[in-house]
Amino acid sequence: MNTTTTKSLGWKWMVLGALAGCLVFLGTGCGSPSDINNNSNSNANPPDNRNVSTDLNYYKDVKPILNRSCLSCHSSGGIGPFELTSYEQVKSIKSLVADAVKTKRMPPWQPGDGCQEYVGDSSLSEKEIKTIVDWVESGAKEGDPSEDQSQPPVKPQGISRVDLTLKMNEAFGKFKTPDDYRCFVVDWPKTEKMFITGTQIVPGNLKVVHHVIAVVVGPSEVDKLAKLEAQDPEPGYECYGSPAQGIRVTNLSSWVPGASQIDFPTGAGIPVEPGSKIVLQMHYNVLSGSPEPDQTSISFKIDSKVDKVLKLLPLINPQWPLTQSMKIPAGVSEQKHSFSYDPAVGLLGQSVTKSKPVLIQTANLHMHTRGKSGKIWIKRKDGSQTCLLNIPRWDFNWQGQYRFKTPVLLEPGDQVAIECTFDNSAENQPIIGGKKQKPVDLNWGEGTNDEMCLGGLTFVEQ
Ligand code: HEC
Repeated sequence: MNTTTTKSLGWKWMVLGALAGCLVFLGTGCGSPSDINNNSNSNANPPDNRNVSTDLNYYKDVKPILNRSCLSCHSSGGIGPFELTSYEQVKSIKSLVADAVKTKRMPPWQPGDGCQEYVGDSSLSEKEIKTIVDWVESGAKEGDPSEDQSQPPVKPQGISRVDLTLKMNEAFGKFKTPDDYRCFVVDWPKTEKMFITGTQIVPGNLKVVHHVIAVVVGPSEVDKLAKLEAQDPEPGYECYGSPAQGIRVTNLSSWVPGASQIDFPTGAGIPVEPGSKIVLQMHYNVLSGSPEPDQTSISFKIDSKVDKVLKLLPLINPQWPLTQSMKIPAGVSEQKHSFSYDPAVGLLGQSVTKSKPVLIQTANLHMHTRGKSGKIWIKRKDGSQTCLLNIPRWDFNWQGQYRFKTPVLLEPGDQVAIECTFDNSAENQPIIGGKKQKPVDLNWGEGTNDEMCLGGLTFVEQ
């Protein structure tokens, strides 16, 4: 093991503290065993018989890459723990930067190569990684500002038009520590049926907000929400695994640090009836003693008519929760669970029309902290396969919804499939209260000591 690794992990602990990051989930999220493996693998190779380019400099070669792939978070007001905006800043932590890009910890982009192209992909090409690493190894030269060809940094994108903003009814500060999963209910004010065509979640307090999921609950289900709220003495209701808790919900969007939140694909919208409610599932991660309260809001782009309705196709084996059949024995380092079905037959009340092809727009995948890798794909009628999402190194802290640059056609007779691989070995356990937990038998559930294997596709009919 080398000093870079030790240093970067130590650093991670520090920045995490500062960030109110993912302490509970260090086991998988941060400084995970796979990081360490990656490092030792790269160090197992003979030091360097590769070609190190030595004519690289900051302004000409490195700044353009950082501007595109790093500064959305590592600049003033961004969620990164430090800025990478000047030569001095980058040079002062150059080895850490080289290590973070070499091991692909940074930028935090989950999907692997060779599957689909996604909107907002910030990952680096092998050539860009080599440029940064070579620059560091050849002395991190500054060059001349006149050689700067970089484009201005890209800020995370927002929706193109804000028609309505809803806020949590009151600020909330009575967080359970270190993690609190709480759902807040907000009235939908429109008196006619409307379509949501884009959403943008704005966290109220970035020091504690770790993850937000927004869903719509239709008028026929709002009584159940009221019951959940009434049973809980605090505002809203507690909800670890999902906002649903037995209620039928429609997913709207999710927020993780750095995520762009853009309009839904052209013309597509999610219908919302008058009398509906919006539920925000907040994951708060609280490390400091008395954090400021949070009052998160969500903005919407709304239209009264749309060309297409955006629909959801769930990916889950209904037997997993029903019969507790998603077993992950204690100590096992590679446990796979997979499921596929014909979407025309339908699942959980959602289906595609039998005879019509549909266009898949987005894919997302959800596991908890013992998730190791996961994928979603189409099993074509002719026996071939189309990869939709491949996450080679699952990180609970950076899950998102990925939108295809080119929507993918799903034709009658095709099946959709999901596979999750879990690592429940002693090395891959979360650290809770400073102590690495012992592996226990896991199964499907909403708790921190439960797992999930859940995917979702959104689609429009052709
Ligand atoms: C989506 C936001 C985001 C982007 C984009 C991003 N970072 Fe980070 N970065 C973070 C956050 C948040 C942390 C704090 C640690 C964590 O949560 O993993 C971090 C931590 C780091 C660290 C210290 C911890 C470690 O893993 O070594 C380095 C170095 C770093 N980033 C470099 C980069 C570089 C270089 C890029 C671009 C190639 C980049 N980051 C892009 C958000 C981002």
